[in-house]
Amino acid sequence: MLKFNYSNIPKIIIALDFYNRKEAMKLVHLLDPSLFYLKIGKEMFTILGKKFINELHQLGFNVFLDLKFHDIPNTVFNAIKAAADLGVWMLSVHASGGKKMLISAKKALKSFKKRPLLIAITALTSLQEKDLKDIGIQISLQNYILILSKLSRDCGLDGVVCPGKAAEKVKLICGSKYKIITPGIRCSDDFSFDQSQIITPKQAKKFLIDYIVIGRSVTTSKNPMKKLNSIIESMQ
Ligand code: C5P
Repeated sequence: MLKFNYSNIPKIIIALDFYNRKEAMKLVHLLDPSLFYLKIGKEMFTILGKKFINELHQLGFNVFLDLKFHDIPNTVFNAIKAAADLGVWMLSVHASGGKKMLISAKKALKSFKKRPLLIAITALTSLQEKDLKDIGIQISLQNYILILSKLSRDCGLDGVVCPGKAAEKVKLICGSKYKIITPGIRCSDDFSFDQSQIITPKQAKKFLIDYIVIGRSVTTSKNPMKKLNSIIESMQ
């Protein structure tokens, strides 16, 4: 198992995006739960549900349940409550669901003694400037991210998922304690796949990102642990 020290480098969340439990567990068993966080998204949760989350909890992992809720306030309130009941470490909603939805999501966690962190998705890292225009948004990607980050902070959320290149500005506007989680992490020899806003692990450290989400860079690698080790070394 990989052992390293987290001083001054972003914490690592592994995006466990596999199509079946067996493949996912092959990687999970190689990871130290005291060092790596696991992200379960729509794909694995739809296939395996809460039993799988419980299994990961029993192994000692902190789980980010990344279901990116985006619905009317009442539905999001109930969905967040149900998700928090699973005992996960972090949850996500889309900031573009608006102020009332974000406030409702936060309210849903009020009754929990040990509540999950509530994080808002700003712009998907797969989006480009022109994709915003396609959906009628006429401002720059950067401004869109900053507006949604500020709105989420004002609604009491704990942080945002945002592209790496916007991270420094988000921290400046929302404060250094506001958590930044960044997907779209790629080493120079990686495929970008469907991601547009990509940065290297080294840039993530420079941009003072709190958590990086690493998916296909590691999960499609022939030797995932060697790849993970080289990512960690590149940040140290
Ligand atoms: O494989 P890759 O490293 O591109 O994985 C990125 C992960 O981060 C995926 O699980 C994806 O759902 C998630 N994500 C993202 N962009 C966001 C929020 C989450 O790519 N804005």
